[in-house]
Amino acid sequence: MDNIGLQEDNGLSFDLMDGKTCIVTGSSSGIGKATALGLAKAGASVILVCRGQEKGEAAMNEIIQKSGNQKVSLMIADLSSQNAIRKLANDLTTNHDKLHVLVNNAGVFLAKRRLTEDGLEMTFAANYLAPFLLTNLLLPTLKASAPSRIVTVASTAHYGATIDFDNLQGERGYSGFTAYSRSKLADIMFTYELARRIEGNNVTANCLHPGVVRTNLGKNNWWMFRLALTLFAPFLPSPEGGARTSIYLATSRDVEGVTGKYFVKEKEAKSKASYDEGVSERLWDVSVKLTHLSE
Ligand SMILES: NC(=O)c1ccc[n+]([C@@H]2O[C@H](COP(=O)([O-])OP(=O)(O)OC[C@H]3O[C@@H](n4cnc5c(N)ncnc54)[C@H](OP(=O)(O)O)[C@@H]3O)[C@@H](O)[C@H]2O)c1
Repeated sequence: MDNIGLQEDNGLSFDLMDGKTCIVTGSSSGIGKATALGLAKAGASVILVCRGQEKGEAAMNEIIQKSGNQKVSLMIADLSSQNAIRKLANDLTTNHDKLHVLVNNAGVFLAKRRLTEDGLEMTFAANYLAPFLLTNLLLPTLKASAPSRIVTVASTAHYGATIDFDNLQGERGYSGFTAYSRSKLADIMFTYELARRIEGNNVTANCLHPGVVRTNLGKNNWWMFRLALTLFAPFLPSPEGGARTSIYLATSRDVEGVTGKYFVKEKEAKSKASYDEGVSERLWDVSVKLTHLSE
């Protein structure tokens, strides 16, 4: 990226991003809001993608006020809906000639199985199919804006997970943790497969584990679950720490041209669970069908 210097803020360091347009999904709270703030402080134009107008506006105002950067805007989309993702991608590409960074951050943890309006299991749809579809729809603009970067927030929860093609929608038995960890493994495999498919376009695709951080993740579940999270929260680091690796991958010169990697604490990390190229290819093909991408 054509950066001009290194900025320091509260222990976070990043390259200046003036003239770059960045999208951060799930930026109404937690790691996504902290990531968007970091990118705004670096001088980028930042587009927040949030599902609620009120929460989105509050986040946007806070980021503008804390960063002093007025180039922060808001788009509303429920990323569990493929119609909403298509509308979002259409609005983004209609209104912006250039998109330099896409941070696929939005995510959920659901203790009980829920279906989306498309009839898909919600965790798989919001955590994995949404980044898959949104990224593919934005790819032509990302390629036209190269050098550009795709950053997807995964999790160490993927260790031990498998892609069970016979139970992708959790219809033959659902566990919140299995669904979550599988969706995060899918995010990592998607990143590798995407990197292979777009090689030579000067668009990089990397993913990361943000650390275990104090956010709203999981707080939309039953009261015992919420209580456990609330009691545990004081012992966890803040979302700002969780945003470091996303901001690093979105901005740093260290990772210029680096693609198809999984990062933890701003360092490349191993993830044996995700290296099966046969499974990644099959998952890509299944995802194309589930998102009707080829139609
Ligand atoms: N916190 C951790 O320890 C941890 C560890 C590993 C990975 N992660 C990952 O980090 C990412 C960010 O999570 P977080 O911890 O910051 O949790 P969070 O505070 O709950 O933030 C999640 C964000 O995603 C948004 N979101 C959820 N479903 C959505 C949908 N259908 N459409 C649009 N936006 C949606 C939420 O919007 P609302 O505000 O409207 O709910 C919120 O902005 C997730 O991908 C998560 O899996 C977190």
